[in-house]
Amino acid sequence: MPPSPTPVILDVDTGVDDALALLLAATSPHLNLIAVTCVHGNVTLDQVVPNTLNVLHHAGRTDVPVAAGLDRPLVEPPRHARGVHGDNGIGGLELPTATRTPEDTHAVEYLRRTILDAQQPITLVPLAPLTNIATLLTEHPEVKANIERIVFMGGAIGTGNASASAEFNVRQDPEAADIVVQAGIPTTMYGLDVFHQVAVTRPQAEALVATNRPAAELAGRLLLAQMQNYGRDSTLIGDAGALASVIEPNALTTSPHPVRVELDGAWTRGQTVVDQRPHATADREEPWQPPMNTTIHVATHVDHARYQQLFLETVTN
Ligand code: BDR
Ligand code: CA
Repeated sequence: MPPSPTPVILDVDTGVDDALALLLAATSPHLNLIAVTCVHGNVTLDQVVPNTLNVLHHAGRTDVPVAAGLDRPLVEPPRHARGVHGDNGIGGLELPTATRTPEDTHAVEYLRRTILDAQQPITLVPLAPLTNIATLLTEHPEVKANIERIVFMGGAIGTGNASASAEFNVRQDPEAADIVVQAGIPTTMYGLDVFHQVAVTRPQAEALVATNRPAAELAGRLLLAQMQNYGRDSTLIGDAGALASVIEPNALTTSPHPVRVELDGAWTRGQTVVDQRPHATADREEPWQPPMNTTIHVATHVDHARYQQLFLETVTN
């Protein structure tokens, strides 16, 4: 018997590449998309919510509940990424408006109830600043027992994008990200090191548009809009790669490392500090830093051709 689909909840800030992840989730037979929660990030929350509803509507997945969460980080005022995602967050595309509204319940409460009620432990896939998830884990730690694992897009071993040292989702809410990595839940960090490797070419995007299948066609238009924005002939599938790693974990190489989030430095706030030292070296050092006390799985390599194909095939079929 084939394995049953993995129950997933996505937390998004839609966002061109969140939209690609939503389309992958909407069409994959290997995932059971239980719900989608929304948070501030690429654009304001009041734009993220309609973007998310409209993308699901376009993909014919009006059965998936959508809940709106927090509209600002735990500490700092919100900032956005309109230069990357366009003023409306989805590359300037105009989508038909969904005929439904989000759940009446706040996303944090919706997550609490849904996770506690789930028959099978949930895989949480945050693709956005971690404000909703950190608030959930702080206010309702009882949910941890029914979370299979967290696979989040965020952070980097190497260079950042929002700043020289910090990736956008973590830089938006460093306090929240630090709560999540310390939560004691099996966690995979799908950071920029692998995020930057999974791309689609212009002919592949054009072929998606030509399929006349709603999810594929929209994915193609989003990818072409992103190519247009950057003036390139290929572009990343971004957040959709993190979700691909839930569908096919074997194509992602991860390695366990202590990770904490820098909360202070003027140049390094929001940096994910990944301790890659061998124990034998680290243990001999004087205590220059407090113990990190947490180990998560950090993505180091990705079979990019595999995730590219998985994305193209899934949204098309
Ligand atoms: C991340 O930030 C956003 O721009 C993308 O949607 C992705 O989640 C990349 O840093
Ligand atoms: Ca995102």
